[in-house]
Amino acid sequence: MDQLIQDIENIPRDVRFGRVAGIRGLLVDVADIGNAVGIGSRLALEARGGRKVEAEVVGIDQGRAQVMAFGSLEGVGAGARAEFVAQEPEIQPDATWAGRVVDAWARPTDGKGPLKPGGTPYRLRAAPPPAYARQRVGPRIDLGVRVLNTFTTCCRGQRLGIFAGSGVGKSVLLSMLARYSKADVTVIGLIGERGREAREFIEDDLGPEGLARSVVVVATSDEPALVRRQAAYTTLAIAEYFRDQGKDVLLLMDSVTRFALAQREIGLSAGEPPTTKGYTPTVFSELPKLLERAGPGTAQGSITGLFTVLVEGDDHNEPIADAVRGILDGHVVLERAIGERGRYPAVNVLRSISRAMPGCNEVDETQLIGQARRLLSTYEDMAELIRLGAYRAGSDPAVDEAIKYRPAIETFLTQGKDEKADLGEGFDRLAGILEGAAA
Ligand SMILES: Nc1ncnc2c1ncn2[C@@H]1O[C@H](COP(=O)(O)OP(=O)(O)OP(=O)(O)O)[C@@H](O)[C@H]1O
Ligand SMILES: [Mg+2]
Repeated sequence: MDQLIQDIENIPRDVRFGRVAGIRGLLVDVADIGNAVGIGSRLALEARGGRKVEAEVVGIDQGRAQVMAFGSLEGVGAGARAEFVAQEPEIQPDATWAGRVVDAWARPTDGKGPLKPGGTPYRLRAAPPPAYARQRVGPRIDLGVRVLNTFTTCCRGQRLGIFAGSGVGKSVLLSMLARYSKADVTVIGLIGERGREAREFIEDDLGPEGLARSVVVVATSDEPALVRRQAAYTTLAIAEYFRDQGKDVLLLMDSVTRFALAQREIGLSAGEPPTTKGYTPTVFSELPKLLERAGPGTAQGSITGLFTVLVEGDDHNEPIADAVRGILDGHVVLERAIGERGRYPAVNVLRSISRAMPGCNEVDETQLIGQARRLLSTYEDMAELIRLGAYRAGSDPAVDEAIKYRPAIETFLTQGKDEKADLGEGFDRLAGILEGAAA
């Protein structure tokens, strides 16, 4: 009897619904839903045979809701019922989620059983904390990767972009960060990856040791744009939960480019005009909304965010790379030529910057990095001539010095994927290498 009463209480009091009035490509027009829905609201479309298709409102046009579906529209016809489900999607993350792999709805996909929901709902599309209420970025964080620790030192709550072409070592670098950084927990969003790669990343690169302290959100490239975009929101929402628990979270997203592509697909379907390179205006308004959610919190706890950006054809000035660079607090550039030379991680230190530097480092450390950069850039300027054998030793003392220190610095920048680095040790080692070099 109690159960029956409970069940009756749980029946939604008013089921609001509209009717499908038209379908154009991926976009469904829903009429008569009234003012119940807004952008981001969830509906369930009823297909033939009673199958329910989850959908999201992406636009409103002349009183009709324009919705896109999370699944196939097969069997959805004119007049089909479109039931209102929720104003806004939420998830309830929990500390026990560490070590798990989930989908865009935070449902487990690793076959390790159900996930325990936490006590507080987190909105998938939460707004970033207000700028004035936010803490400043904290002390520096040991990322466990030597070249990043020293040449682009990162603070707790900072956000860095990792810019790279395909196959230049993004995944390996992210897995090193997940395994070796001194963060309390890592939240990893694999957005729009090829299915095979997501699995390889989790099993081979991350391994059991990396996975144990991570929550991984996966949406593969074959899933609809709405799902891929939502996976990015879910990644942020989970990171926000851990941040609110006072944890220092490391958030890794691979890649923001695929998030932008998903938003473009949604925007174009909803009838937005394409602008630069086919990207729609909402791509450029959604990017900061997403990226700004990483950062320091309003109390203890922070989200340090590293976001990869695919630079197709190694064009670092394409619109997404440009937009992301403008939003984040620094960028790390991975270069194919460096990887081909056999130096991994293939970071071009001369083109990478962290905007928290030099503020977060000691004076002598800043000096050290300045010195190393100078040597590298002197070498870089002369690299062609040196390689051709056209440079004569002794003609310029600065170049001679750059040539002399080059091999040791290159070795310093190299780090195997199974090698862990320590922040303090990195600076000490660099100091040892540069001893005797002109300041
Ligand atoms: N630290 C490292 N040490 C040795 N080899 C590395 C290292 N990092 C990357 N590599 C080499 O580079 C290859 C490509 O790396 P990775 O898969 O991380 O690239 P990616 O940028 O993620 O590629 P994609 O764009 O296809 O996702 C690896 O298979 C490996 O051979
Ligand atoms: Mg990869």
